[in-house]
Amino acid sequence: MEEDSGEVPGWHGRGADTITGTVQGMISGAGRRVLVTGGAGFVGSHVAEAHLALGDRVCVLDDLSSGHPGNVPAGADFVEMDVADPRTRAFVSEGRFDVVNHHAAQVDVRFSMADPAADARTNIVGLVNVLEGARAAGTGRVVFVSSGGVVYGEPDVFPTPETAPKHPVSPYGVSKLTGEYYLDYYRLIHGLDYVALRYSNVYGPRQDPRGEAGVVAIFSNRLLRREPLVIYGDGEQLRDYVYVEDVARANLLAAEMDLVDDVDMDSRAFNIGTGEATSVNTLAELLEEVSGIRVRRVFREARAGDVRRSTLATRRIRDRGWVPGFSLREGLARTFRHIAVRMAAPRVAEVGS
Ligand SMILES: NC(=O)c1ccc[n+]([C@@H]2O[C@H](COP(=O)([O-])OP(=O)(O)OC[C@H]3O[C@@H](n4cnc5c(N)ncnc54)[C@H](O)[C@@H]3O)[C@@H](O)[C@H]2O)c1
Repeated sequence: MEEDSGEVPGWHGRGADTITGTVQGMISGAGRRVLVTGGAGFVGSHVAEAHLALGDRVCVLDDLSSGHPGNVPAGADFVEMDVADPRTRAFVSEGRFDVVNHHAAQVDVRFSMADPAADARTNIVGLVNVLEGARAAGTGRVVFVSSGGVVYGEPDVFPTPETAPKHPVSPYGVSKLTGEYYLDYYRLIHGLDYVALRYSNVYGPRQDPRGEAGVVAIFSNRLLRREPLVIYGDGEQLRDYVYVEDVARANLLAAEMDLVDDVDMDSRAFNIGTGEATSVNTLAELLEEVSGIRVRRVFREARAGDVRRSTLATRRIRDRGWVPGFSLREGLARTFRHIAVRMAAPRVAEVGS
């Protein structure tokens, strides 16, 4: 295989030929070879799409455990693989990617409490496989997705800055924070460059409403079915909801932002959120307003592992030129419309809607 042929073992078919041109050129790195793990999932599929729109060549690696093939954007290549499978190392290494964007993860807090070993297998062993491949290939930048909703635990300061003490209260939180430590090790010892993005609560089209996360998708589905909204606890728990397209833009920035080398772990981490606190009760009201549908509310006992309050300070990423472009009301309206269309005509609602 030629060094510059663009062929990657395991990549077949389509190639990244759907360049929209809308954002091409705004960020300098267009034309790169980008691996998006977890790109058949909710956030990862938007990130893959954003890279394609920029003119990058995108490969999605996903085991489809919670993702769907229909989420993989047209123009991206797709490889079905488990990141915890040792073959992932060879794939990432032989792929010689310029950017590795790691979204693949076990994402369910409660599942992580029920089966911490399975969580660690995907979120720690899987990450290490990806990093071993990236190290061997000399990958230019790894973008790792951490979670600002869990690594700080119950913080003392709101909105919470990147430097706040880390005190995760679930195995999922521990595995995300451990991931950042591994990245810092690979940077220090092997010179592997990385950025960690600590997301708040991401919402938007393609979020899976079947899990326990994704309250916006769950509420939207219940409203459409005229079913009561189930709220755990008193509904006054506060969250920082950020729209998925804004998050995808943050990933583009993370793929190419300049960083100095002699820094600690928190300097490589960027909170991604709005900094605004919204209660679950307020979220339910806003969704009722944008949908024009009102239903009953049912309150259930608060769930273990849920933090009471989470909002992220985002000055560091804003200093790099990122601002959320969607208000909560606007993002909720777009998400609700997407889910309503999908419910009415499931086969129409694929990527790009
Ligand atoms: N959605 C949020 O609010 C949020 C908040 C903080 C962090 N995150 C992080 O963002 C990333 C994406 O989350 P999401 O909400 O899109 O969830 P998601 O479940 O839609 O996406 C995860 C994807 O990873 C894939 N995957 C899971 N295990 C895998 C494995 N062993 N090998 C290969 N692929 C595997 C799944 O099939 C899925 O497509 C995750 O790393 C998650 O921890 C999400």
